[in-house]
Amino acid sequence: MTLSAACGKTADEAKLTPAGPQAAPADSPPSADEPTNKAQVVARLELDHKTLADLEKLSVTVNIDPFYKMKNPQFEGYLFDGVLALVPGLAGIDRARHSLRFVCSDGYRTTFPFKAVENGHGVLATALAGQVGRGGEPWIEKQRGKRAQTPAPYYLVWVGETDLKARPWPYQLVAIEVVANDALAAALAPPPAAKAEAGYELFRTYCFACHTVNLQGGTMGPELNVPKNIFEYRDATQLKAFVKNPQSFRAASLMPPQALSDDKLEAVFGYLRAMAQRKICTTAADCAAKVTAP
Ligand code: HEC
Repeated sequence: MTLSAACGKTADEAKLTPAGPQAAPADSPPSADEPTNKAQVVARLELDHKTLADLEKLSVTVNIDPFYKMKNPQFEGYLFDGVLALVPGLAGIDRARHSLRFVCSDGYRTTFPFKAVENGHGVLATALAGQVGRGGEPWIEKQRGKRAQTPAPYYLVWVGETDLKARPWPYQLVAIEVVANDALAAALAPPPAAKAEAGYELFRTYCFACHTVNLQGGTMGPELNVPKNIFEYRDATQLKAFVKNPQSFRAASLMPPQALSDDKLEAVFGYLRAMAQRKICTTAADCAAKVTAP
């Protein structure tokens, strides 16, 4: 098995964006049949040559680029609006009640409201213009963690954008999903009595792309609530130190250091602790069956 980092960021980028390097068997992208994360998906678009064949290619220059970190790199690809329009049933979807989830080749899943992709000039890049990489690939490799990688097969970039947080910039992107906000909240929201809303929000911003709670979220890192909540078998002080600097516990850990203040980290932990009272399922099949779209 090979470890690879995909649409997240490496440790040195962790301060910039709430994402990180990801681990996955390079030869086995997540399938649509994965029992987790499935119930609340109302539409899914697999990204491949065939699906995108009718879209027109264009060449663009962008300001910033979280993968190569080049100055004004030039990409070839398809206008993201055109790609989004291919999502089955999109016209009938209430955008205020649904979110877009970007699925990468290693289980990293980043979720954004529709408004994060609106009124922007997104391009689903298929190539770094004018570059020929190893084996004739339209991408050049970049050393990330222990491995040289490219953003293939698809990399979402934004023309004229200088903010890495305002919009999704996933690379090694393989699918786009539409998920129901209510169903996600039903699986993830803390019990009201716990007053853990702020921690819940922080968890969704910093951790959710890689971790699951009640088996909902990104699958790159471990599940943190079921069947055992992380605080039921780990020491809080050690966990705090781990989250701030995973590499000080496990050499070459794939979790990037999380640059959160103590207060914010406490809030995230408060949320996770509260979820021990909201274990809605215990196994993958159980979770898929119980978390249903409204
Ligand atoms: C880019 C992906 C990524 C992000 C973002 C991320 N993690 Fe992780 N996390 C991982 C991976 C991968 C592991 C397994 C690391 C290892 O084995 O060294 C892990 C491990 C952990 C563990 C250790 C579990 C154990 O006992 O072994 C905890 C706790 C944890 N993460 C909490 C968090 C919290 C809290 C956040 C948000 C503040 C967060 N993580 C953000 C990927 C991520």
